[in-house]
Amino acid sequence: MSNTRLALIALINAPVIIILLNAVWQLIAPRDPSKPPTVFHWLPIIGSAVGYGNDPLNFFLACREKYGDVFTFILFGRRVTVALGAKGNNFVLGGKSTVLNAEDAYTHLTTPVFGKDVVYDVPNEKFMEQKRFVKVGLSTENLRAYVGMIEDEVDEYMNTDANFRVYGMNDINDWGMFDVVSVLQEITILTASRTLQGKEVRSKLDKTFSQLYNDLDGGFTPLNFLFPNLPLESYRRRDRANVKMTEFYVDIIQKRRQAGADSDHDMIAALIKQTYRDGTPLKDHEIAHILIALLMAGQHTSSATGSWALLHIAENPDVGEALYQEQVKHFGTPDGNLRSMTYEELRELPVLDAVIRETLRLHPPIHSIMRYVRDDVSVPPSLAAPSKDGVFVVPKGYYVLASPSVSQMDPRVWKDAQRFDVSRWTDPDGVAAQAFKAYADENGEKIDYGFGAVSKGTESPYQPFGAGRHRCIGEQFAYLQLGTLISTMIRKVELRLKDPVPAHNYHTMIVMPKKPRTILYRRRKFD
Ligand code: HEM
Repeated sequence: MSNTRLALIALINAPVIIILLNAVWQLIAPRDPSKPPTVFHWLPIIGSAVGYGNDPLNFFLACREKYGDVFTFILFGRRVTVALGAKGNNFVLGGKSTVLNAEDAYTHLTTPVFGKDVVYDVPNEKFMEQKRFVKVGLSTENLRAYVGMIEDEVDEYMNTDANFRVYGMNDINDWGMFDVVSVLQEITILTASRTLQGKEVRSKLDKTFSQLYNDLDGGFTPLNFLFPNLPLESYRRRDRANVKMTEFYVDIIQKRRQAGADSDHDMIAALIKQTYRDGTPLKDHEIAHILIALLMAGQHTSSATGSWALLHIAENPDVGEALYQEQVKHFGTPDGNLRSMTYEELRELPVLDAVIRETLRLHPPIHSIMRYVRDDVSVPPSLAAPSKDGVFVVPKGYYVLASPSVSQMDPRVWKDAQRFDVSRWTDPDGVAAQAFKAYADENGEKIDYGFGAVSKGTESPYQPFGAGRHRCIGEQFAYLQLGTLISTMIRKVELRLKDPVPAHNYHTMIVMPKKPRTILYRRRKFD
């Protein structure tokens, strides 16, 4: 056989040889007992990306069976140590930001979308100040003003949008149908812009704004997380959209500044008045970039949660009826109508509350929360250890990952863990009540990371809004937005499901229902 032929055969077989060597090496190489076990993978570099990317929850559960609560997997060359369960959440989310760092994990994904000088583009202390500013914009006074605005928007949408006009106009018994994700995406942006983003943004929600939003959103995908700079059109569109969106917001901010005193209840009005601890006011581009960040942080999380909630309500007509009767009981008027709710009243509706909590338990929009390991860090032995006296150390340069999805659906913690069961939230001594208490207890342990005291909550198996210094600050707003939306919709229509509740689509940053996700509706009465 000629040398050329031999070389050709070697070249063709090289990938197979590399794969085999990689597999054999994992099986025979002596393992460093101080490091968490590494998940077996056939493909070098790519590692477990396919299994994790297609179905992270089942990937984690299968790995837990084999390796325990702490293990490392390879994700396109990155080494990611997963820490499962309530203790794992505590380890990752309760860690010091100097050791387990969010900026280093996320900035390559978020800064091109949000823009410079905010969120993960600044040191953690500065971001914590920015979170404090945003909390001013989410004051109870502002939230009170938002309920009526959201009600109006949902009313208007359901009275005028084609999704709700086609059916039920001739015969009250007609069933119409809509794609729940499309409808929820539209309602979420309409309600967020009318409230948080402000009247100028609401009045400009035209095709140009939607295009800019879509281009930004197209830069916020798992691909962007894995590969920060690819020569793709979507990356260039993202960058152009960030420049245009910044200009759009800066223009509004400057007009507001020129107009002087601002009595609006929105985020721009709040941010204009804020100053950092050293006395520096927020610059126009920083306000603009914070607004983009809030738009992106709230849009998919709320629209996904709202979609899953409506799917489950449609699947369980008794839940829909209980929600409707709760509205009648609290807001029914002598003439047979339903009056508007206040913010305080909305917070005192147990069925609605249970529906939102149960939806977030089964479908937390963020399945993986990551931090970059800046310094070697020991895993608490109560979480996992190589032996009775040893400790695992996660080396500098790794990532750590917590998955509230796993602890929220853990059959070891929750009875009938996979079942949508709102009644679990109404038992004051049940697991759900205990988990919620550990997460959000008003009277429990609080910590101030720089944006106001928050419940510690890092050890709860229920953490849909994260925990620790990076805990969500949009939680109250999201509850208000979802609660008002579900109530307003359930007042007008009955819902049924056309197909079974869809499976999770994990190929987007935020976990969405797979298609088809059609909901049938029938008007309760003509408006
Ligand atoms: C952080 C979930 C809505 C703004 C987070 C985190 C989670 C989360 C899990 C923690 C991320 C981490 O630790 O890396 C949710 C869910 C929502 C929701 C489930 C709705 C159902 C919103 C809304 C806003 C918002 C409406 C804005 C108005 C933020 C911000 C952070 C955050 C600013 C802080 C990020 C950090 O400190 O690193 N959210 N979110 N979220 N969320 Fe939300």
